[in-house]
Formats: sequence, structure tokens, C-alpha cells
Amino acid sequence: METKLLYQPFDKIEADAVAVVLFEDDAAPAELKFAAAWLDELKTSGEFSGKTDETAVLHQPQGLKAKRLVAVGGGKRESFDLRKAVAAVTRAVKQKGVKTLAWWLNGLDPEAAVEGAILGNFEPDQYKTANQGKSLDAFHVVSPTNGAELDKAFERGRILAESQNFTRALVNEPANRLTPTLLADRACAMAAESGLECEVLDQDRMKQLGMGALLGVAQGSAEPPALVIVRYKPATAPKSGDHLALIGKGVTFDTGGVSIKPADGMEKMKYDMAGAAAVLGAMRAIAQLKPSIPVTAFVPTVENMVGSRAQRPGDIVKSLDGKTVEVLNTDAEGRLILIDAITYAKRLGVTHMVDAATLTGAIVVALGNVNIGAFTNNEAMLGKVMAAARAEGEKMWHMPLDEDYKDLLKSAFADLANIGGRWGGAISAAWFLKEFAGDTPWVHLDIAGTAWLDDAKPFMAKGPSGVCVRTFTRLAMNW
Ligand code: BES
Ligand code: MN
Ligand code: ZN
Repeated sequence: METKLLYQPFDKIEADAVAVVLFEDDAAPAELKFAAAWLDELKTSGEFSGKTDETAVLHQPQGLKAKRLVAVGGGKRESFDLRKAVAAVTRAVKQKGVKTLAWWLNGLDPEAAVEGAILGNFEPDQYKTANQGKSLDAFHVVSPTNGAELDKAFERGRILAESQNFTRALVNEPANRLTPTLLADRACAMAAESGLECEVLDQDRMKQLGMGALLGVAQGSAEPPALVIVRYKPATAPKSGDHLALIGKGVTFDTGGVSIKPADGMEKMKYDMAGAAAVLGAMRAIAQLKPSIPVTAFVPTVENMVGSRAQRPGDIVKSLDGKTVEVLNTDAEGRLILIDAITYAKRLGVTHMVDAATLTGAIVVALGNVNIGAFTNNEAMLGKVMAAARAEGEKMWHMPLDEDYKDLLKSAFADLANIGGRWGGAISAAWFLKEFAGDTPWVHLDIAGTAWLDDAKPFMAKGPSGVCVRTFTRLAMNW
């Protein structure tokens, strides 16, 4: 889709539809004077009064070049979410054959507007050869007055949303088309296009290093594992010496291993690499937006399979850190690959770490599909992550990690067990990671509930959401 920010008067806009936001308590903008009777009628009939989610369409509006005028209810100005509104209108009008949509900016934020259109235009239909969803060809944000700040914000929004869609397309790849090797290839292709360095540690190298926890998960699959490292370096290193690591769980398919999952719904486990994809999408955006802090992505990627070589419950593996882990449940594999990536990141000298992982079903029970579960060993660091998430409209909830939970991970035969029993499952999983993060400021984001939408929303297609891409990028930009 072509996206542009144009400086034009309202009546010169050429498009299949031009949308304008009307707030409940505000008078309609002067440009809509010609449609005053129509707006009055909408109000008295109760069809449209500017509440959120309301829309009204006027065909062949008098004196406009655009073919349709779409009035979009904004509700109260303070609580209006432009990104969501544009996405919902995009999804609605593209179904009706609209190919070019213009958005009268009217003082709102061009960044959120273009993000909404790009995100709303995405459909996970890359493998449909027939009946692909309809889509927009062009989206134009239109403002009567120009400004360098508007241009910058628009460009930022375009980069962020395109990177988020890059992540969504990657998450949507089925496991036969996205093995760990192919995920590593895609990461390095993205890096090459973006001017980033990419390095892949293969199985032999990981054996040499002693990444026993990661390799234990990988050994049941015919597909070899990889640890992908993508580096962004700013032109001048910051005085603080800070270096941010983004770490993403990249399980290209999670059968559960010998502790196998039920068949029902197992196909969804292709999205068990959504953390990895989010980290890579963020690196794609970071490469273009150039924050002043160095950022390195670490993507441990494996396929968790059953087979004669698969690890068994009760196996004891030695992590890169040196601690031994008793694998009481082979389905708790995400934490096993993440700890070796965390330890490796610390060895490379990162000073702060954030990980994203579809880690537990328990976080879905706790927070549903709305909030990301956030855990930390450092409140100040979490504050930064939460501020970035809030600014980007990604919801996040601070979960506890008290010392009292630590005993859940006791093992009779090794330093730690990889599961902590039935209750507080998202917390024991996070505690497991914390044992390896040590004193390095670290935030863990459990995105099992938020990385995939089971049902389409007015503003988003069913399937991969691309959550965390915008938060991670903003975190690096704000550092
Ligand atoms: N990938 C799953 C977590 C998951 C579950 C993601 C549902 C999305 C939806 C993870 O590897 C897993 O299997 N976790 C287990 C842990 C348990 C064995 C302690 C779980 O949550 O059931
Ligand atoms: Mn699992
Ligand atoms: Zn998993």
C-alpha cells in the first residue's frame, strides 16, 4: 500500500473515501459546513452523534472531489484512540471496495493515523491463492498546513507499522515453512536489507559453548537449532555505556515434546516464535529510526518435537551458566532455550535485557488476551518498558516475583526444576528466567495471550498481532 502525507485543502482531496473524526462534544470542523444539514439529520435521527465506533457515509458529497465522506465518531477527545479508529475504518471500507482512503488530519497525530491504516490493511492471507481479503491501494493523511514535525511523525508511524506487519507475517508462517534454519535466514535477510550485522551460532558452536539447556530441547527434532544475533550500533556510543538486549523465544513449533500437548488446538503452536518475530520486527524499525543506544537481538530458535532422540522427563541438562536443570516437563521448553540466550547476552556485555516469549498458558488464564504479563528484577527498568508500552497503546500488567515463589522450582536431583507446579505458573516460569538474569536489569514479557487474536477485532484481523514491536522500538528511542 502506498502511504503519503499530503498538504491540501479539504475540497481538493481525491480519493474513494475521505474520513473525518467528529467528537461528541465538539462542533464539526469548518470544512464540513457544506454537510451541516446531513450532520443535523444524523443527530436527530440518532444514527450518528460522534460516539466511538459510530460511522456514517455520505456518497457523492457536494463540492468535494472525494467519492465518499465518512464521518467517524471520536467519542470524548481525551480517550480517543486514533490508531484503532483508523484501523477499524480501513478494515470496514476495504471490504466495500474502497481502494484509496484519505484521512483529514484535523490536528490529530499523523503517526497513529498511518499506523492504523497499515495495521488495518494487513490480512494473514499469504497462503491463500483464491479469496484473498480485499485491501487498500493507497492511504493518504491530509493536512491543510505543512510541517517538518508532521512529516517525521508520519514516517515514524509508517516504519513502525510496516515492521509490525513484518512480524505478523513471520508469525503466521506455518512450521513446515519456517524451521529454525529458515527463521535464521529470514532474520539475516532482514538484517542485510536494514544494514544490520547478523550472526548465527549453529549446533556445533552451541555444543562447544555448552548450551545444554537449549540443545536438550532441540535434540528431538530433525531440524537443527540456531541462536541468531542481530546487532544495531549507533554512530556514536552513548556515554552511559548502556547496551540493550532484546531476547525473543523462537520455538517454530511446540508439540510439547514427550510431555505432549493435546491435539485440539495444537496447530496454533506455530506462533510459539512470536517473541522472536517481535524482536526481529523491532530491529527492522530500529535500523531505520536509529536510536542512540546500541541494541542487540538474541533469538534462540528450536523446534520442540517428539521422537526417539527427544529429551525425556527427568533428564538433567547443564545450562551455559553452569547450573543444572531437571527437565520435569518437556513442554516447559521456552524457559530452557531462553536461559542460554540470557547467559550468552550477558557474556557479550549487554547491560539491560528485555525478553518477549509466548511462555505460559497460565498468563492467558491470568490476563486473557488484553494485557502482556510483565516481570522484572529492576523496577526502574520496568518503568521504562511500561512507559514505552503506554505510549504505544500496548497494554501491560506488572506481575509479582516475590522471593516466596522461589521454592516452587526446587529439584531433588539438580539445581533447579524446569516447572513449578500447578499454581502461579507464569510466575514460576519468570522466576526460572530470573535465576539466570541475575543482577543485570531485566524485564520479561509473557505474550502468550496477546501475540495471537483468536477472533478478528474491528481494528485487527484474526491471527498474529505483532505485539511488542512498537514498545521495543519506542523503548530504544526513548533511552
Ligand atoms: N508455548 C507454551 C505456552 C503457551 C500456551 C503459549 C498456550 C500460548 C498458548 C509453552 O511452551 C508451554 O507449553 N508452557 C506450559 C508450561 C507447563 C508445562 C509448566 C504451559 O503453559 O502449559
Ligand atoms: Mn511448551
Ligand atoms: Zn512453548
